[in-house]
Amino acid sequence: MQPARAHAPGKIILFGEHAVVHGQPAIAVPLAAVQTWAEAIPDDFGSGLTVHAPDVDRTLHVADRFEALADASDPLYNALMFPLQLALNAWNAPLPDLAITVRSSIPIASGLGSGAALAAALIRALALALGRSLSNEALNALVYEVEKRHHGNPSGVDNTVIVYARPVFFVRGMPPAPFTIGAPFTLVVADTGVNSPTRLTVADVGQLYDMHPDRITPIFERIGAITCEARAAIEAGQIAALGPLMSENHALLRELTVSSPELNELCAAALSAGASGAKLSGGGRGGNMIALVTPDRAPVVARALQEAGATAVFVTTVA
Ligand code: PMV
Repeated sequence: MQPARAHAPGKIILFGEHAVVHGQPAIAVPLAAVQTWAEAIPDDFGSGLTVHAPDVDRTLHVADRFEALADASDPLYNALMFPLQLALNAWNAPLPDLAITVRSSIPIASGLGSGAALAAALIRALALALGRSLSNEALNALVYEVEKRHHGNPSGVDNTVIVYARPVFFVRGMPPAPFTIGAPFTLVVADTGVNSPTRLTVADVGQLYDMHPDRITPIFERIGAITCEARAAIEAGQIAALGPLMSENHALLRELTVSSPELNELCAAALSAGASGAKLSGGGRGGNMIALVTPDRAPVVARALQEAGATAVFVTTVA
């Protein structure tokens, strides 16, 4: 039998992170430059469900019942086995005899959607191996449940852009609204190298809002308005308008306390090297930032980001 193979891309949030948790829109695009792949083969020895994750040198195995292993506090269990447990429960399916190998080039805890992509690829491979059809809508609902386990209070933007693998204008609780990209644009993506769990930054912003709703509400609303302006500019192909909107969005994220000295330094370095806008992307306090560049400026900005301490830099075109 052929292995059942599935994959899912990373993602970049262009505008609206954090405010999206509180009802404002966000714009996110898939990032095909990084991917997660899962491959399922039948376990002929009939010994239950095994997940191999060679990237982190871990193998998890469930012989007969999930309960024996279900440790909600183990991040690796949550990332590798919980998505499968959740899907099998939802499908009322017995534990299959399968070995699934998963690999990923998406850096962990860095704002590029590694957890959602892992869950999407694993559940897709499982469905294929079991001969089940699985709509994007059904997969999205399952991956959202996994995101809740990782993040506590996710908006749903990560799972949506990753499952549908297309640009989305996303509002919490609404079906994803795809939108068109009027003209391609180039981003330099740079990693601070600092791992920062989204769960913590989302919880801190929630606390800040609870303590100072009068001060924080206008920040959320301005981020929402920036996101709507950016959507119009992207659809109209007016790429020049995006840079200032990105930088303003970053300044507002700083006010929400989710930037960091490393992120601010990388944004400043990108702007000095000729980027027209720069911001953190994702949960913040670490992870990745993005800079908008013209294609000819991309190598110069990428080099400046490396020199400013980025641990990984790549250039991507949103088209
Ligand atoms: O850090 P990431 O890639 O998981 O992005 C999270 C985006 C937030 O808006 C901060 C949280 C959310 O659930 O929308």
